[in-house]
Amino acid sequence: MDSYLIGLGNNDTKTRQEASQDFVKFWESQAKKLDWFESWNTPLEWNPPFAKWFVGGKINASYNALDVQKPDKIAIFWEGENEERQIVTYAQLLDSVQRLANGLKSLGVKKGDRITIYLPMVPELIVSILACARIGAIHTVIFSGFSAQSIKDRIVDSQSKLVITADGGYRRGKIVKLKDVVDTAISDLDFVSNVIVFQRTNHPITMTSKDIFWNVLLEKNSNICPPEKLESTHPLYILYTSGTTGKPKGVLHDTGGYLTHVSATFRWAFDIKDSDVYFCTADIGWVTGHSYVAYGPLLCGATQVMYEGAPDYPNSARMWDLIQRYKITIFYTTPTALRMFMKFGDEIPNSFDLSSLRLLGSVGEPINPEVWKWYYNIIGKTKCPIIDTWWQTETGAMMISPLPGLETIPLKPGSGAHAIPGVDLAILDESGDTVPAETKGYLVIRKPWPGMLTTLWGDDAKYKSVYWSKYKDTYYTGDYAICDKDGYFWLLGRADDVLKIAGHRIGTAELESSLVSHNLISEAAVCGIPDQIKGEVIIAFLVAKEGVSISDELRGQIMDIVRKDIGAIATPQSLYFVSKLPKTRSGKIMRRLLKAIASNEKIGDVSTLEDGAAVSEIQSAFDELQKQIRSYSFSS
Ligand code: WT7
Repeated sequence: MDSYLIGLGNNDTKTRQEASQDFVKFWESQAKKLDWFESWNTPLEWNPPFAKWFVGGKINASYNALDVQKPDKIAIFWEGENEERQIVTYAQLLDSVQRLANGLKSLGVKKGDRITIYLPMVPELIVSILACARIGAIHTVIFSGFSAQSIKDRIVDSQSKLVITADGGYRRGKIVKLKDVVDTAISDLDFVSNVIVFQRTNHPITMTSKDIFWNVLLEKNSNICPPEKLESTHPLYILYTSGTTGKPKGVLHDTGGYLTHVSATFRWAFDIKDSDVYFCTADIGWVTGHSYVAYGPLLCGATQVMYEGAPDYPNSARMWDLIQRYKITIFYTTPTALRMFMKFGDEIPNSFDLSSLRLLGSVGEPINPEVWKWYYNIIGKTKCPIIDTWWQTETGAMMISPLPGLETIPLKPGSGAHAIPGVDLAILDESGDTVPAETKGYLVIRKPWPGMLTTLWGDDAKYKSVYWSKYKDTYYTGDYAICDKDGYFWLLGRADDVLKIAGHRIGTAELESSLVSHNLISEAAVCGIPDQIKGEVIIAFLVAKEGVSISDELRGQIMDIVRKDIGAIATPQSLYFVSKLPKTRSGKIMRRLLKAIASNEKIGDVSTLEDGAAVSEIQSAFDELQKQIRSYSFSS
């Protein structure tokens, strides 16, 4: 195994030592780096599985992100997909945040109310988030690629009384009409009292009596709005994410613990300096954008580039052009994006000046060693450490990552190295015993950590059963991992049926219920198969009702339903029509069998994996299924 001894010269051994002595005291010392209105009296209240961090402390996220920063420093270099540009300082952000915060109050928004935000990647998205945080409203951002039905489900679940959206956004040169989507989503939701509309594309839209233009609201309201002194445990946001069962889950994060974890990891991982220009390509609609676009960089007073559109639009040089033009020093992206850039060849990045880069990051899915090496050689020119950061929507911030801001260690392509200080990870077998080195098992977290989700919105029971029921008082991540002899973690993908398409989580149950909502489809099961660019793509196995003939029209309708129910990101690459789905005697769909068939694997690989099914049973289901399949592929 190659290792790469590269770092930034930092050798802080004290931090890890302190963390290993007393993790609570250690996290307190990190929390103290933030600005608190009042200090806490209890650092951690742990009633498994419910944790409360810094109890009694009073804090405000927007105050820490803005008021305490240098006013004239550039917070955001914003670049629209259409090459519009804007520079936003900390003072300007603070001005807009206070106006919007007052605007929200004038519309009756109170501490604890939920606000849904459905915006493209514009600075106003960050303003909206921080305006909610300023007054203690709980934001719930929805990725702007989600459909009206998805938005409706989330608004209903969170009971948001107000929505912030835009007329539209640009994506691959086209206008995505966001306001129309919101209109459909809330058409029969009377409890939504107002919609604030930011004008980004300026195409004609219909304004209803609930709608208010962003500019009008901001002009009308004063730019002085003192930050609410909130309990550390006050909820900061809900972010919906998919699992294997039921509707998306509302992951709830608190304020003090979350901000502590995000800001500490931002410093350790990115070695942030005043002169850095940081660029994370994630959309704020996902957790990476929450923690490392909206909160992390601002809490640390950093300057960042924010880009509105598709990373390969108008061509595959877009990212390299941004790095060259803004002299970006830290670049944080996904393996899916890297695989795509790699496919376009070395000549394109080689024709740009990327010499400003000093640190590279990867997030969201396993990075293949060959892609890691390409990133290291072609983008980093062998002088930038790469941090492969493992974490989840639920963990709030990084849990495994090399930390060049702290220490210089050999890097291994494809491994995220060690747990961050103050986090206690283990790899367990089915019965809860720690596995020996080099042995595959389930990755778990044995102690509470400050960025952890506090519960699932409105569903403590589900919170307990999804994350805390497999092992006692231990958080189950749902990921397979191994730890090598040097103590390096290697993430091996999901142990459950959660799909990871281009790094985004898609829930199997949600997708299946969408597919069977077509009146000619009686059963559906989906699985993910490996894909060279996206990591995984979706294959749907469908059983049509008796006598239904499979036509282009039917296939088109099915794809439309998924687009309508969830969004384009969840559309299957292929539909396999079968006359029946393979099931165990107890009626469970043999998902791994489907996966094996769709990926052209041998049956031997799955025979031990289906609970409760005999090998012969799986073999005959396999043979039968292979005979019946009629597959239809769609180019994605
Ligand atoms: C799942 C969480 C991390 C924030 C964005 C995704 C997978 C994430 C890595 C990595 C291998 C990774 C895991 C995890 N994952 N980062 N560096 N190496 N796998 O957040 O949508 O909540 O997904 O993403 O499977 O459980 P998410």
